[in-house]
Amino acid sequence: MPQTIAVLDFGSQYTQIIARRIRECQVYSKIYHYKTPAETLRADGVIGIVLSGGPSSVFSKKAPIPDKKIFELGVPVLGICYGLQLMGHMLDGKVAQGARREYGHGNLEILASGKLFAKLPKKLRVWNSHGDKLIKLPPGFKAIGRTENSPYAVIEDQKRGFYAIQFHPEVFHTERGTDVLKNFLLGVCGAAQDWTTKDFIQHAVEEIRSTVGTSRVILGLSGGVDSSVAAALIHKAIGRQLTCVFVDNGLLRKGEREAVESLYKRHFKIDLRVVDASAQFLKLLKGVDDDPERKRKIIGLTFIKVFEKSLKSIGHADFLAQGTLYPDIIESVAIGDNPAALIKSHHNVGGLPAKMKLKLLEPLKELFKDEVRRVGSALGLPKEVVWRQPFPGPGLGVRVVGEITPERLDILREADAILQEEMMSSGWYWKVWQSFCVFLPVKSVGVVGDERNYAHVIGMRIVESIDAMTADWTRLPYDLIQKISGRITNEVRGVSRVVYDVSSKPPATIEWE
Ligand code: XMP
Repeated sequence: MPQTIAVLDFGSQYTQIIARRIRECQVYSKIYHYKTPAETLRADGVIGIVLSGGPSSVFSKKAPIPDKKIFELGVPVLGICYGLQLMGHMLDGKVAQGARREYGHGNLEILASGKLFAKLPKKLRVWNSHGDKLIKLPPGFKAIGRTENSPYAVIEDQKRGFYAIQFHPEVFHTERGTDVLKNFLLGVCGAAQDWTTKDFIQHAVEEIRSTVGTSRVILGLSGGVDSSVAAALIHKAIGRQLTCVFVDNGLLRKGEREAVESLYKRHFKIDLRVVDASAQFLKLLKGVDDDPERKRKIIGLTFIKVFEKSLKSIGHADFLAQGTLYPDIIESVAIGDNPAALIKSHHNVGGLPAKMKLKLLEPLKELFKDEVRRVGSALGLPKEVVWRQPFPGPGLGVRVVGEITPERLDILREADAILQEEMMSSGWYWKVWQSFCVFLPVKSVGVVGDERNYAHVIGMRIVESIDAMTADWTRLPYDLIQKISGRITNEVRGVSRVVYDVSSKPPATIEWE
C-alpha cells in the first residue's frame, strides 16, 4: 500500500480538490468523514492529516467536530480555513465569530518561512473564504504569516507538527498553493511520493489476480473512458478470464462499433462479445415522440434486459466489473440542515449484480478521472479513447429530437461524423467539453441548383465546461462553423439548414432531450 494522507472532510466544496492536489504530488490521499475515530486513522497507518475547510462556524450547535485524539496520533496535521478555526478552538486558542465573511483575494505576507513556506516567495496572493477569525494563538503555536485582515493567517507548532492556514491552497486562485501543500507532504510528513501510475497499475494487477483467482469476470464495455480503462487493466491482470460485452443499441455514432471491435478484439485480443440489439431498441422506440424521459426509460430498461440475456449466453461468471471512480463512492458530509449523509449508489448497471448474484469488481474506485486517464495511457489506450468527450448512455437517442427513426439516425450520424472530423482536424475537439450534432424534427426550405428543397435542420452543439454542471457555448471561429455547416448541407442528403446553439447551461442543458 502507498503511504496515505487522510483528508478529513468538514463539508467543503473543495475537499475533493484537496485530495487531488495531494495526489498530483504523487502522494496517495484518502477522504475520510470528519467523525472518523482517530483509532481508524492509526490502523490505516496515515502519515499525515489535512483538515478540510467547510461552511460551518465552530460556534454553531451542529458544527462538525472531529475526534480530539487525532491530535495525539503523533502525525502532522494541516488545518485549512475551517481547519484552522478548529485547531484554534480545540487546542485552546480563541476564535471570534466574524461579523462578515472575508471572501476573495488576500495578500499574504510570510514572516518566517519555516517548513511550510520553504523556498517560496515572502509575498503571495491567496484565496480566502471564511467567517470566523482566530484571535488568540493556541499554546505552543506562533504566527508565521499574516494577511491584511488576519494577523494569524498562518500558524505553526513545529514541535508537534501542527500547521494551519486561513486561505485555500488547493484552489487555482492561490499563488503557489500546490507548493505549500507539497512542503507539508514532503517537508513535514516526509512522504516518499510512492503514488505513481506505474505503482498503481502494479498493485491493481496483483489485487485483481488475488481477488479473482480462477473465476471469470464480465464487463459491460461502453467505449467511454472509465469502462475502457477498467477493461484494459483487468485484461492485463487476467487475460482471457475477462469477457467484455458491448451492446449495439442502434443509437451509436458512425463507425463506433467498428472502432470498439478493432481496438479491443483485434488490438488488445480481449474476448469481446458484440450484441447487436439495434432492431429491438428501435422497435420499442418507434412512435415515442412526446416524452424524452420515456425514451430514456425505454433505452435504460432495454439495455438491462439485453445485457442480462447476454450474460446467460456467456455462461457462469462470478464477477461483474465496473468502471466506478472515486468521486462516485465518496460519502458526502451532511452539514447543518442538509439531508443525512448518503453513500452514492454506484451501480451503473441498475441492480444487476445483486440479481445475478455477481460480485462487483471495481479496480478504479480509488482514482480520480485524471488519474484514470493516465492509467489508460500507460496501458496503451489511444488518445482518442483516453481523452474522449463524454457521450450519454442513451446515445443518439437524446440527440434526435422527437421520434427516433432509422432515417433520422442516419442523417444525424452523417452530419455528426462531419462535425467530429472537422473538430479533430482543427484541433478544437480536444479544447472543448463536448461537440456534437442534433437532429431537429422541423423542415425548412433551401435551394439546390435551381430547385427548391424542403429538408431537415441540424443543430450544432459545442460547449465548454469543467464538470457538466454548468456550461457555456464555445466561440468557435466563424470560418470553422462555416466549413462544418457548408459540408453538412452539401454532403448530407435531407439537410437544408444548419443552426448553431448559443444557449448556456443553465438554463439550457447540454443535451437537447
Ligand atoms: P445535460 O444534458 O443534463 O448533460 O446538461 C450533462 C452531461 O451528462 C451527459 N448526459 C448523460 N450521460 N446518461 C449518461 O450517461 C444520460 O442519460 C445522460 N444525459 C446527459 C451529457 O452528455 C453531459 O455530458
